Amino acid sequence: MQQVKNDEAFVAFERVQKSYDGETLVVKDLNLAIPKGEFLTLLGPSGSGKTTCLMMLAGFETATHGDIRLDGVSVNNIPPHKRGIGMVFQNYALFPHMTVGENLSFPLEVRKMGKSEREAKVKRALDMVQMGDFAARRPAQMSGGQQQRVALARALVFEPELVLMDEPLGALDKQLRETLQFEITNLAHQLGITVVYVTHDQTEALTMSDRVAVFNDGRIQQLATPDDLYERPQNSFVAQFIGENNTLTGVVQDISDKSCTVRLDSGDVIDAMPVNVGAVGDRTKVSIRPERVEIDKTRLQPGAHTLKAEVLEFIYMGDIFRTRLRVAGMDDFVIKTRNAPDQVRLTPGTKIDIGWLAQDCRALDA
Ligand SMILES: Nc1ncnc2c1ncn2[C@@H]1O[C@H](COP(=O)(O)OP(=O)(O)OP(=O)(O)O)[C@@H](O)[C@H]1O
Ligand SMILES: [Mg+2]
Repeated sequence: MQQVKNDEAFVAFERVQKSYDGETLVVKDLNLAIPKGEFLTLLGPSGSGKTTCLMMLAGFETATHGDIRLDGVSVNNIPPHKRGIGMVFQNYALFPHMTVGENLSFPLEVRKMGKSEREAKVKRALDMVQMGDFAARRPAQMSGGQQQRVALARALVFEPELVLMDEPLGALDKQLRETLQFEITNLAHQLGITVVYVTHDQTEALTMSDRVAVFNDGRIQQLATPDDLYERPQNSFVAQFIGENNTLTGVVQDISDKSCTVRLDSGDVIDAMPVNVGAVGDRTKVSIRPERVEIDKTRLQPGAHTLKAEVLEFIYMGDIFRTRLRVAGMDDFVIKTRNAPDQVRLTPGTKIDIGWLAQDCRALDA
């Protein structure tokens, strides 16, 4: 994983804690260093503290403990309007008395930009969110999704160095959301803008971000690139939160550097990679992705453990086949196979053997 030193970071959270009521911490000992130009996403379930982190960075909330720095300067010393941050918040309203065009022109006027340059930038920003024909409308005359797109354009129009976005695409339909995901990341990279983005949509996080910080319960559970996060989850929360995943529980029976065997609660023995387990006798949740399960024994290493499975359901999904199995006493074990010309379509009732390469099955904390 890419390591960024805190003193070189453009945005740095150092040992930050936040409590609203003086008792419960909703952000716990947060350390995060974001280099200039990075697109970083905070991903996590509702209530995990994502918005709170953005609000502290924007200056609308203060940290209970710790320090937040922007380009090396503690933000406590910079008032919110002087931080030069573009923002799209969950409930960040447009100015109701101004037209769409005026809403976008405003941050440019504040920065003393000339009229013709302002007009060109406003047009470009509105075109980006496909709202070019709406410049004369007022916020009350638009749908929620249209207002959200204008808010997005307003946050980007003055080409700020740092943009904070909190679920900016939440109210949009799938097609528009995907177009804007692409536009936002392109524009951010083109202009070298640093983005801190919040979403609970994992596909959005994986497709848009340079790195993703997975939040739960006020803590970062893992901070990694999208492929690292999906391929190498470090704990069972991340494994279950990101992507589809099969989980089997058991006890570590034997352990070496690169592999371990786990005796499942059903009595079966399987091969896994020790990721977040310490010693023989530890309880563990082992995690295996549906696309890494092998139903063709010839693709397994000699001596690999296999499990008996019964096919319960076969779902044709076009590009892939999704098959639900009964494995080790559980009815929700899923495998995914590619719809290739020679791929077998398993029929319910069939008994098969399944297995995997030890490195594809991760023994994590229980
Ligand atoms: N102004 C506030 N006063 C008191 N508690 C608050 C306040 N704002 C948020 N909280 C609490 O802090 C915790 C974290 O909230 P936060 O808004 O940061 O979550 P989130 O991760 O953004 O969730 P969501 O995905 O639902 O937007 C929650 O338990 C919430 O109830
Ligand atoms: Mg939120």
